[in-house]
Formats: sequence, C-alpha cells, structure tokens
Amino acid sequence: MGWIEVAKAADMEEGQATKLCHAGRVVAVFRAEGEFYAIDDRCTHAEASLAEGEVFDTEVECPLHGAIFDLASGEALTLPATRPVNTYATRVEQGMVRVEIPGSSPGGA
Ligand code: FES
Repeated sequence: MGWIEVAKAADMEEGQATKLCHAGRVVAVFRAEGEFYAIDDRCTHAEASLAEGEVFDTEVECPLHGAIFDLASGEALTLPATRPVNTYATRVEQGMVRVEIPGSSPGGA
C-alpha cells in the first residue's frame, strides 16, 4: 500500500475532480462538501470517466447515461449502473491531497 500525491488541496475547488493514474489504475479524486474522495474513474455501466461527471453534494453523476454514485461508499445509487466502484482512502498532509493505492510502494510517489 502507498500514499500517492495527487494535488495541492488548495488548488482543488469544490465539486472539482482530477484523475490519478498509478499502478495500472485510474482513480478520480473529488473535492466535495469540503472533503476529498477517491473512486475508480471508470463507470461500472459502460466505462465513462466519472471525473468528467457532475458533482452534487457527495455524489457524482456519470456524464454518459446519468447513473449516480456515492463518493464515500462507491455505491451505484441509480440505474443504469448496478455495480459499485472501488473507493480509496484519502488524506491531506502538508497541504497535499494523497490517495492510498493498493500495490504501491510505501510512501511512493
Ligand atoms: S457509462 Fe456511466 S451510466 Fe452509462
């Protein structure tokens, strides 16, 4: 497990997402309601990028067919998606947002 640096917390605006590509994964990192959330970027319905979706409260709407995912649990809240996305732990250290990616080297960058 390793904590991967994503962006300066101050540079991420409310409702904004950024993508992190690491260890073969593409993770979408969101700032929502003042917190940071990380989920798989790929929608479980037809593989659209959730980082390009619209954020409401702590949920994101897939830009392709409109399925809504809970950013905290990864749960698919509405059709057409029925399967959840993976979620990842986040933390802010020295002003930087970090995401824990399984399979990364400890403290890796
Ligand atoms: S690709 Fe996301 S709802 Fe269809």
